Amino acid sequence: MNELIIHPVGALRGSVPVSGSKNAALPILIATLLCDGPSVIGNLPGIRDVTLTLRILARLGCTVEQMDDTTYRIDPTHASAPISAEPLTERLRASAYFLGAFLGRFGRGRIGRIGGCDFGGRPIDQHIKVLSALGATVLVTEDGVEVCSEELKGTSVSFDTVSVGATVNGILSAVRASGETVLYGAAAEPHIDDLIGYLNRCGANIRRAGQNEIRIRGVRRMRGCSYSVIPDMIEAGTYLIAGAATQGAVRVRGVNPAHIAPLTRKLKEMGADVDEEEQAVSVFAPGRLYGTRIETQPYPGFPTDLQPQMTALLCTCIGTGTVRENIWRHRFRYTEELRRMGANISVREDTATVVGGVLTGAEMTVPDLRAGAALLIAACAARGDSHLYDVGWIERGYEDFVGKMGMLGASVTPI
Ligand code: EPZ
Repeated sequence: MNELIIHPVGALRGSVPVSGSKNAALPILIATLLCDGPSVIGNLPGIRDVTLTLRILARLGCTVEQMDDTTYRIDPTHASAPISAEPLTERLRASAYFLGAFLGRFGRGRIGRIGGCDFGGRPIDQHIKVLSALGATVLVTEDGVEVCSEELKGTSVSFDTVSVGATVNGILSAVRASGETVLYGAAAEPHIDDLIGYLNRCGANIRRAGQNEIRIRGVRRMRGCSYSVIPDMIEAGTYLIAGAATQGAVRVRGVNPAHIAPLTRKLKEMGADVDEEEQAVSVFAPGRLYGTRIETQPYPGFPTDLQPQMTALLCTCIGTGTVRENIWRHRFRYTEELRRMGANISVREDTATVVGGVLTGAEMTVPDLRAGAALLIAACAARGDSHLYDVGWIERGYEDFVGKMGMLGASVTPI
C-alpha cells in the first residue's frame, strides 16, 4: 500500500481493539536469542517491524513458527553469530538491540546500518557507553556496527541521557554477564518493564530499584518461556486523539489506562470527557477542544511518539497551543505537510506554536511513522478529501490501521 484517499465523514465513533506494543515486542523478540530453549511470544502486533525482526531471527538460524495470528514460537537453539552484516537491520531502528543480544549469546556479532524514522540524527553513544562498560569492543563503520567481548562483566553505568534503546542494550548485554550491573538514569517506559518481565520469566534476575535505576544480577542460563506482550499505548493514544480531533467518541479496548495517563490528563484539560475502565479508555469530545501546552518527556512524561498526533489535534482546537519537543528536536518535519491543509503552525527551535482553525483536504507525503498517523487524523478532521502518499511508514507501526479507522467510521481507501 502506498497511497490513501481520506474522505472526511465527521465525528469518528466506535470502539477499536488495541494490538500488542511495537516497542515492547521488538526487544522481547530479539531477547529470545539469549535463551537456551524456545519461547512462545503472544500478542505480537501484525506490523512490518515485527515481520522484519522475525525474518532476521530466522536468518540467524532460529526456528520461527507461527502458532496463531499474534503468537510465534522462536527456538534459538541453532542460531549462530552473523558472518556478515545483516542488510535487513537497515530497515529497523530496533536492530540496535541485536548488539546486546549478540554479545550475551555469542560474545560477538555485527549489524548493518541502523534504520528507523529520521529525526535528524539518532546517536548511539549511550549504547556504546553501556556495552563498552561491560567489557565489549564496539566498532562503528560506514556499513554498520560490530561488537565483540572475551567476557562480559557486571558494572555500574550512569547514562548521560535517558535512552530507551541504550537501556535495552544494557539489559540484554548484562543479563548473562558475570556479577551485578546497575544502570542509573535508565528509561522507565512500560516496554522496558515488559522486557524485564519476559527475561525474569526466563530465569533472569533483574529488578527496578527506583524509577530510573535497574539492577541486573547476571545468570548463567536462561530457559525460554511463554509470554504475552503488553498493549500498545501509542496506538491506543492515536485512536483517542483521532476521536478528539473529529469531535467524536472513541473507546480503545485492551489497554492499560495508567500507560496513557499523560495523554488522558491533557485531553481532559482540553475539554474532553474521558472514562477509564480496567482495560479500556473512552474519550468523548462534545465540540472543538481548547488549545493547550504539551511538552514531551521520557516516561512518565508526555510521550514523544504522540507528539505529532497531538499537534494535528491542536490544529482543530479553539485558541493557541504549543508543543515543545524535548526528545527529538527535529521531529517537526510533518508540520510542512499540515500547512498544506491550511494549518497555522510555526516552528522555532524545539517548539511548535499552533493556532487552531479549520483544515482543508490536501495532498500530503508521510515523512515517518507517527507523522503518518498525525496526517491521517488531520485529514479525517478536515473539510474535503485528502491524498496521503508514502503510507508504508504507517504500516511499520500500526496494525491494520485502515481497518481500525474503518471501525470508527472513517472513510480511508487504500490505492
Ligand atoms: C525509542 O527509540 C522508540 N523506538 C522511539 O519510537 C521513541 O520515540 C523513543 O524510544 C523515545 O521514546 C523503539 O522503541 C524501537 P532513545 P530510541 O534512545 O530507543 C538521545 C516510534 O515512533 N540518545 O530513547 O532510538 C536521542 O537522540 C519510535 O515508535 C542519545 O543522545 O530512542 C534522543 O534525544 C520513533 N544517545 C533521546 O536520547 C544515544 O545513544 C531518546 O532516544 C541514544 C539516544
